[in-house]
Amino acid sequence: MRKPIIAANWKMYKNNQEALDFVNKFKPLISRNDQVETVICAPFTLLATVGESIKDSHIALGAQNMYPSLEGAYTGEISPKMLLDLGVKYVILGHSERREILGETDQFIRQKVDLALETGLTPILCVGETLEERQQGKTQTKVSQQLWSALEGILASQAQKLVIAYEPIWAIGTGKNASPEDAEETCAFIRNCLSEIFNGEVAQNIRIQYGGSVKPGNIKEIMAQPNIDGALVGGASLDPESFAQIVNFKE
Ligand code: PGA
Repeated sequence: MRKPIIAANWKMYKNNQEALDFVNKFKPLISRNDQVETVICAPFTLLATVGESIKDSHIALGAQNMYPSLEGAYTGEISPKMLLDLGVKYVILGHSERREILGETDQFIRQKVDLALETGLTPILCVGETLEERQQGKTQTKVSQQLWSALEGILASQAQKLVIAYEPIWAIGTGKNASPEDAEETCAFIRNCLSEIFNGEVAQNIRIQYGGSVKPGNIKEIMAQPNIDGALVGGASLDPESFAQIVNFKE
């Protein structure tokens, strides 16, 4: 049984006070819900504050990126060791905003996935197609290529804990989510790729999230899909009540 995992991606939003206010309001709203693994992926500057304020809860701490080296002369970068030092458990890797705006390549993302797993962080690996690719019927080709380049050769024993986030780029921040059926079709395809890259058993254990305009009004039908095990939530995760409604989708 795959435990649902719902993660907030705060992107480049909030200061320390706003983060504290969020956690203080959010914690009691989800305190009875231990059926969903809840993660807050905060900007680097808020990791210490959020980490401290979620200590007495079952919320896990996540980061939004890391550099693929333990330490070194990499001005402005953050290493997995530094994240672990702050209690970070999850790290978003290969988000489309980093691929597109910052020019991250599949090879670079692969290095990050390797080092994250080696150091004990759990990658939330993002994959997804552009609108143009979707219209040209290239969704599966794109997603499959992103998965193979990021994951081929990783030990099956390490792969079990991976989280994959399927995020169609045209659905991110646009208010236009993929239909639950379309999201399910691609997530089922992703699971199929995972069984080719690893094996069927590992593929059954890996959790696949959907991301792209998830909100309280659509989470239930998204989570009802058999191959969708959670969500990566941007805009709707910035407000404690809205994110709590998403996490408490079963109520
Ligand atoms: P959104 O962002 O929920 O605002 O569409 C999702 C994401 O980028 O992870």
